[in-house]
Amino acid sequence: MFSPHSIPDETSFFRDPELFESLKNYVLPQLLRRRRQNKKLTIWCAACSNGQEAYSLAMLLQDHFPSLTSGWQLDFLATDISSTAIARARSGEYSDAEIQRRLPIHLRSRYFVRHGSGWKIVPELRLLVEFNELDLRRSWSNLPLSIDLILMRNVLIYYDLVTRELILDRILDVLKPDGYLFLGATETAFNLDGTFQAIRLGQAVGYQARSPY
Ligand SMILES: C[S@@+](CC[C@H](N)C(=O)[O-])C[C@H]1O[C@@H](n2cnc3c(N)ncnc32)[C@H](O)[C@@H]1O
Repeated sequence: MFSPHSIPDETSFFRDPELFESLKNYVLPQLLRRRRQNKKLTIWCAACSNGQEAYSLAMLLQDHFPSLTSGWQLDFLATDISSTAIARARSGEYSDAEIQRRLPIHLRSRYFVRHGSGWKIVPELRLLVEFNELDLRRSWSNLPLSIDLILMRNVLIYYDLVTRELILDRILDVLKPDGYLFLGATETAFNLDGTFQAIRLGQAVGYQARSPY
């Protein structure tokens, strides 16, 4: 029988670099422009595995949008169904092999310190992200209601069409009309049911809720 525990927790820092380039060059500059009045940004990294995806984005924010992490209200939530993955993400501890996979050396020097035989993320970055358990198929009542940016990558691919559509429908309830959803690189061909429109942003494709008009 299919079980979420059979879903691999395969991940890495800066997996699909073109996504992070797109976030840096298109998505975040646009969102920051649009939210400059109330200075509030909400990010949700769903199915975050051991935390590398969320910390990659946190490094990008800190490096390229430093005002966000000081003068703004940044709500950055990262969730996963696996309590083990969330515990690891919260610990911020990674092996040499995990760190060597795609994490540029200058970012390792800036954001990690030696910890035993591996590495540990610095508190400055650790504190930017709140990690919680959440099964995407169950209640989302603990999520913020107006999210600007959702990364839900490499998880829907493991579920059947009905489950995917159910989850994508619920995204419409929490994603702001001009907010962006990003799926995994191989998930872009999903039938998004006419409710989302695909928008090319550099080398990556993001989704926005399709306007009813
Ligand atoms: C292949 S990893 C993807 C990790 C990361 N998003 C990335 O792209 O590198 C899939 C993750 O989805 C999580 N997952 C599976 N089913 C889930 C569900 N129903 N709700 C939340 N997370 C789930 C797994 O625990 C695993 O950490």
